[in-house]
Amino acid sequence: MRNLNPYPSIGVWQICSIVVLIPFLYWVESVNGIGANWGTQSSHPLPPETVVKLLVDNGIQKVKLFDADYGALRALSKSGIEVMVGIPNDLLATMATSSKAAEKWVSKNVSTHLSNSVNIRYVAVGNEPFLATYNGSFLRTTFPALQNIQTALVKAGIANRVKVTVPQNADVYESSTGVPSSGDFRADIHDYIFQITKFLNDNGSPFTVNIYPFISLYIDSNFPVEYAFFDGQATPVNDGGTTYTNMFDANYDTLVWALQKNGFPNMGIIVGEIGWPSDGDRNGNNEYAQRFMQGFMTRTASGKGTPMRQGPIEAYLFSLIDEDEKSIQPGNFERHWGVFYYDGQPKYSLNLGTTTTGALVPARDLKYLQRKWCVLKDSAKMDDPSIPQSVSYACALGDCTSLGYGTSCGGLDAQQNISYAFNSYYQKNNQLDEACKFPNVSTVTKDDPSTGTCRFGIMIEPYYGGAHKTLGSGGFVAGLVLLLLTVL
Ligand SMILES: *[C@@H]1O[C@H](CO)[C@@H](O)[C@H](O)[C@H]1NC(C)=O
Ligand SMILES: *[C@@H]1O[C@H](CO)[C@@H](O)[C@H](O)[C@H]1NC(C)=O
Ligand SMILES: *[C@@H]1O[C@H](CO)[C@@H](O)[C@H](O)[C@H]1NC(C)=O
Ligand SMILES: *[C@@H]1O[C@H](CO)[C@@H](O)[C@H](O)[C@H]1NC(C)=O
Repeated sequence: MRNLNPYPSIGVWQICSIVVLIPFLYWVESVNGIGANWGTQSSHPLPPETVVKLLVDNGIQKVKLFDADYGALRALSKSGIEVMVGIPNDLLATMATSSKAAEKWVSKNVSTHLSNSVNIRYVAVGNEPFLATYNGSFLRTTFPALQNIQTALVKAGIANRVKVTVPQNADVYESSTGVPSSGDFRADIHDYIFQITKFLNDNGSPFTVNIYPFISLYIDSNFPVEYAFFDGQATPVNDGGTTYTNMFDANYDTLVWALQKNGFPNMGIIVGEIGWPSDGDRNGNNEYAQRFMQGFMTRTASGKGTPMRQGPIEAYLFSLIDEDEKSIQPGNFERHWGVFYYDGQPKYSLNLGTTTTGALVPARDLKYLQRKWCVLKDSAKMDDPSIPQSVSYACALGDCTSLGYGTSCGGLDAQQNISYAFNSYYQKNNQLDEACKFPNVSTVTKDDPSTGTCRFGIMIEPYYGGAHKTLGSGGFVAGLVLLLLTVL
């Protein structure tokens, strides 16, 4: 889930009276360098060992998970990579009401893996639990869950080694005038955020925040595009003599001011998610993604902080790999946040400052399905009444987020559009013959239909090692048969 309203009043470019410069202590973190989010909402996830190899090969020393997936954690054993494990929001109520459940979670999902040489450093309690779209569902459970998990970590004797945190959306703070120095926790949830922040601060834990200039651009057509980038030519925002030339710095410093205002001037900050999608929207493309990510990495490598916070910024890229089963409720871009495509191949050149060549290292030893695609038959009649139904079925169960205005396949003609939808469904179903039987209109071809920026994908072989997923065909194919029956 991305933030829907991260920095609402950016348009108000007011000058604030005085900047109070408060000296501050460095928050000492363990490993410098970049981290990455590893999400697993994919129809064809890479084997965990392949992902860990990808992290190591690219010098990514920290990884953030959204749960405590056993396969992922087992693969991270002895890698040395620092790990943040997550408690999903739907477990918060249980963790809040039962200290036994919290102890069990810590024992099974932290202690066990620590003894198996997994370098777990953080437990993320919830994920953006105060996001406006949740209607306050997790307002009351997040804090008691956090307390119970912290108590469980203490009881297990690992609280010095493993810290709790709560990844928050950047809309938990705001600026009444639009400049960072007016930053404070959002008025309607002020007490909840204060309580959590105080608890984290008292326990030597950091404040984790997800910052998304892309979303600002997505939701506000008046947002100055250049202000989203680090090398942009935007008119600077003047905050009492401090100038801001990019949204990230201004947003981060709004948090610094909010923390300061509430009595936490030295609290550590982790940027839990930062990234730019490469498709699914007119501003989601490889060019912008490359520009944003490289801008962020170059500034990270320089060790330069923001105007209000000197020193290195600790951050986790969002995301490592595309996930084709994420909800597209926030937008079609949601499945395209990866620095790598679903198969671990780089999308654009990016120097993370961690490899000798300065280039991204692709995932290796992959097994792809055969080079064949499902497309619209040449003989199919475009006015065949079954086509619209077939396309919407294929798109509902496949992935058509690369179709549409300004996307990588936005330039296709009507026939190619239909082929794209059919192929997506076919590949997701592991090229089963039955998955390319749209009534009288589809056929399998060995000629790659890809054209220009539009890639007609081939899937990798399904990975059956994960415990949580049944891949394959049963449900899908039964569905297509049903569709055939309805059409006929
Ligand atoms: C450990 O984490 C997994 C994956 O997030 C979860 O399904 C499981 O319920 C957790 N175990 C306990 C004992 O809570
Ligand atoms: C939030 O409230 C809206 C309107 O009342 C509702 O449509 C939506 O389903 C709710 N969402 C959640 C996550 O409860
Ligand atoms: C192709 O599909 C997209 C998404 O459904 C649609 O917006 C576009 O108009 C289609 N193009 C043609 C030429 O039919
Ligand atoms: C498919 O083609 C056959 C033979 O041309 C025809 O009898 C049948 O009605 C067609 N089915 C559909 C769903 O159009």
